[in-house]
Amino acid sequence: MRLPIRAALFALAFVFAPGAATADDAVLYKNPDCGCCGDYAKYLEGEGFRVRVKETTALDALRRMSGVPDKLASCHTMTIVNYVVEGHVPVAAVRKLLAEKPDIRGIALPGMPQGSPGMIGQKEGPFVVYKIGRRAASGQAKVFATE
Ligand code: CU
Ligand code: CU
Repeated sequence: MRLPIRAALFALAFVFAPGAATADDAVLYKNPDCGCCGDYAKYLEGEGFRVRVKETTALDALRRMSGVPDKLASCHTMTIVNYVVEGHVPVAAVRKLLAEKPDIRGIALPGMPQGSPGMIGQKEGPFVVYKIGRRAASGQAKVFATE
């Protein structure tokens, strides 16, 4: 499905509206040809979340709109309650985010580390999940959780 960028941005604004989603509602935006993104959605569903998957070719624009810095980018961008979750973030970090409700935009596991949820392969080192700050990041991103 080709989603015009205006429609994509409108959809994003909608899911960011307070009260638009309950705690277990997530919307995952992915490129149509990405397989590991769908596997990540299934992983979260297996953990009890409800995930709606939306395919878009305007993913880069969506990611920037969501305030995810390029250096924290991964293959898919998910919104949950008022947060953005970028990439193959382990569920413990997602739960921590929803429980602690920090004043940040969201969290990200940059790249596509081997062995992370939805990714094949063997884990080669700790998964470092970063905070996505409210303002454009200057300098190092801060660590939110390590698994
Ligand atoms: Cu991926
Ligand atoms: Cu993905």
